Amino acid sequence: METQLLPADGNSLSLASSLLRSGCLVAFPTETVYGLGADATNEQAVLSIFRAKGRPADNPLIVHIHSRSQLRDICTVPDQAVPLMDAFWPGPLTILFNKLPSIPDAVTAGLPTVAVRMPSHPVAASLLRECGLPVAAPSANSSGRPSPTRAEDVLEDMNGKIPLILDGGPCDVGVESTVLDLGHGAPVILRPGGVTRKMLESVLGQEVSLAGSILRPLKPDEKALSPGMRYKHYAPRASVTLVDGEESAVLARLQELYRQETAQGRKTCVLCFSEHVEQLQSCSPHDIGSSAHPEEVAHRLFSSLRGLDREGMEVVFSEVLPPEEMGLAVMNRLGRAAAFRIIHA
Ligand code: TXA
Ligand code: MG
Repeated sequence: METQLLPADGNSLSLASSLLRSGCLVAFPTETVYGLGADATNEQAVLSIFRAKGRPADNPLIVHIHSRSQLRDICTVPDQAVPLMDAFWPGPLTILFNKLPSIPDAVTAGLPTVAVRMPSHPVAASLLRECGLPVAAPSANSSGRPSPTRAEDVLEDMNGKIPLILDGGPCDVGVESTVLDLGHGAPVILRPGGVTRKMLESVLGQEVSLAGSILRPLKPDEKALSPGMRYKHYAPRASVTLVDGEESAVLARLQELYRQETAQGRKTCVLCFSEHVEQLQSCSPHDIGSSAHPEEVAHRLFSSLRGLDREGMEVVFSEVLPPEEMGLAVMNRLGRAAAFRIIHA
């Protein structure tokens, strides 16, 4: 199959919309990452998402909508969700609801709940409006690779597998949406993202907890609240190790680790904050943004990880952020990319 990469405009949006309506896959930009969309009511179309990504069938998808009126056919909506939708939709918040029969089991991997979000990106919103369908869309990467934040990243993984990629430029947030389970009155963040715990708590007026496995691997006997957490994720081919501790100790340790690895002949680099690029000049520093601006680090993270593969890096050491607010979303992805290997300097 030939994959077309087209700038998102009126013509390509009409083409994308008719492809979706005929059961084909289309990759499109959202404010978080690029999504790989299919008609959420068409089971065959949904199954082809799993094939294109090499995604395990037991990892459910997020359904994207442009209008709350679409919820009627998808799920039941508890009162508690209303102020959240008022505050954060359209935007990077995904909420779990009890699903209705119009959503095939393939979308939810057989779970009774369906994850729904309303993206704010103008291209995503126009596409959803024009096709009039609820669109199931995971991130448009091959399963296990860093999520795509640019149309070229999607092409890298999906070339020959899907008919169309809409190019809307780089994604703003850069990490995937926050996934929230309202539970039975005790809300839990299953995946941290652009809508932070504090933002949710200020709207709900109650404490929001974090799923245990956000900053660590699942234990062998632990049930995954969100099936996606079971899998290796966001990983470049290089072996990534995080280094945390007091600033000067971290910088010294990064230099030492870099020297050791390069002495062994391994292609090595350091992911560091903008503030430290100069001090780490001898360690092939890759600037992941300012530690004072975790949103900037989130915005750059996945393209930095993909860049490591293009450069053929074998060993990577990275600085860490405090795991709070956007820093939590960053550390959840970076932790997984590093398979939670961490050195305390
Ligand atoms: O920002 C985003 O959310 C992007 C863009 C394209 O919208 N989409 C995205 O989808 O990240 P995906 O499939 O890569 O991640 C969906 C996550 C997975 O971790 C999955 O396990 C979880 O949401 N999920 C989906 N439905 C669920 C459900 N019913 N219960 C628990 N977790 C669910
Ligand atoms: Mg994904």
